[in-house]
Amino acid sequence: MKKYKIAVIAGDGIGPEVIDEGVKVLNKVAALAGNFEFDFTYFPWGCEFYSEHGKMMADDGMELLKAFDAIYLGAVGFPGVPDHISLWDLLLIIRKEFDQYVNIRPVKLLEGAHCPLSEVNREDIDMLFIRENTEGEYSGAGDWLFKGKENEVVLQNGVFSRKGTERIIRYAFETAKKQGRSLTSISKANALNYSMVFWDQVFEEVSKEYPEVETSSYLVDAAAMLMISDPKRFEVVVTSNLFGDILTDVGAAIAGGIGLAAGANINPEREFPSMFEPVHGSAPDIAGQGIGNPLASIWSASQMLDHFGYEQYGKMIIDAIEQLLIEGHTLTPDMRGSASTSEVGDRLIDIIATSQTLNV
Ligand code: NAD
Ligand code: IPM
Ligand code: MN
Repeated sequence: MKKYKIAVIAGDGIGPEVIDEGVKVLNKVAALAGNFEFDFTYFPWGCEFYSEHGKMMADDGMELLKAFDAIYLGAVGFPGVPDHISLWDLLLIIRKEFDQYVNIRPVKLLEGAHCPLSEVNREDIDMLFIRENTEGEYSGAGDWLFKGKENEVVLQNGVFSRKGTERIIRYAFETAKKQGRSLTSISKANALNYSMVFWDQVFEEVSKEYPEVETSSYLVDAAAMLMISDPKRFEVVVTSNLFGDILTDVGAAIAGGIGLAAGANINPEREFPSMFEPVHGSAPDIAGQGIGNPLASIWSASQMLDHFGYEQYGKMIIDAIEQLLIEGHTLTPDMRGSASTSEVGDRLIDIIATSQTLNV
C-alpha cells in the first residue's frame, strides 16, 4: 500500500476548520481507492504559535517539512500579528525555499455555482491561471531608508530573473500544449519599463518553441476588464506573482466566490514538497463560527491527488463538488446556504461514496 506523508499546517482563523474537511475527503477517497493511504502530521504553526514563541514556525521547520510528500495548508494571518510577518515567515518562505515557482489556480465556473455576470455563458468561464510564485513583485528586495525622518524613502524592488521568467512561461506553454488550449500572457510593459518589457520579450522568445499554441498578450488593466466582460478569451493564462494574486481574486468572484477558489504551489522538479491551499485567507470575521466554506480547501486536496498522479480521483472530487452545488441544499452562508463547514464536508463524502457505488 502506497503511503503519502502529508504535513498539515492548518494555520489561523478558518484554516483549521476548512482543512479538517479536506482531510476527511482525502481519507475517504483513499479508502475507496484501496491502494494508497495518507499519513497526516499536524504542525501547530501560525499566529497563535507566534504569540507563544515569537516565531511563525519552529526553527527547524523547513528541515522538518522536507521529509513530506506534500504540504496541506489552511490559511495564515490573524489580527495581532502584522501580516507581512505572518505571511513572510510561513507561507511565502515555504513557496520560495521549496522553489514552488508554479502557482496553479483554476478559474472554472462549475454548474450550480453562483456567477454575478448575467451576460456571460457559464461555460465561457474556464481558465487556468499559472502564476509565477517565487519572485517578481514578491522578491522581498528593498529598503526603508531614513525611517521616520522627513526624507524617508521606501524601496520595493521587483526581481525578474531570466531563469525565473523563462521557466514559468515555458511551464505555461507546456500546459497549454498538453491541453490543446490557447495561452494568454498578462503583463504591463507600458508602465513597468524594465520588468514587463523583459517579460513580454521572454514570452515572445519562448512562444517560438511552441508554434502550435495560439497566444495572446494583454496589459493587466485591460485583462481585469476582459475577465469580466469577455471571459472566454482566457484559457491558460500566465502572469507575474502580484498580477496573478489580484486577478485570481477577480477569477474567484466570477467563478462561484472566494470560498471555492483553490491553488497548488508546485515544485515541478519534485525536489521539494509541493503545497496545496485555498486561495482565501483566514477570514477573521467568521473564524470560530464553523461556517467557513470548505470547498476551496477540498478543491485544493483534489489538486494534490492530481499531483500524485491520481487524476481520476482528483476529478471525482471536483465532480462531487459540482453535484453538491447543483443540489444546492448543503451550502455555507457565503453561498447563500445555512449549512455548517462540517455539514458540507459530510455531504460531499456521501456524494463521493454514492457516485463510487454507482460506478462499480
Ligand atoms: P480573506 O480571504 O480571509 O477574507 C475575505 C472575505 O472573504 C471575508 O469576508 C471572509 O469572511 C470571506 N471568506 C474568505 N474565505 C471564506 C470561506 N472559505 N468561506 C466563507 N467566507 C470566506 O481575506 P482578508 O480578509 O483580506 O485577509 C484575512 C487574513 O488572511 C489576513 O491576515 C491576510 O493577510 C490573510 N491571507 C492569507 C492567505 C493565505 O494564507 N493563503 C490568503 C489571503 C489572505
Ligand atoms: C494568496 C495570498 C498571499 C499572496 C498572501 C497572503 C501573501 O493573498 O495566496 O493569494 O499574495 O500570495
Ligand atoms: Mn491572494
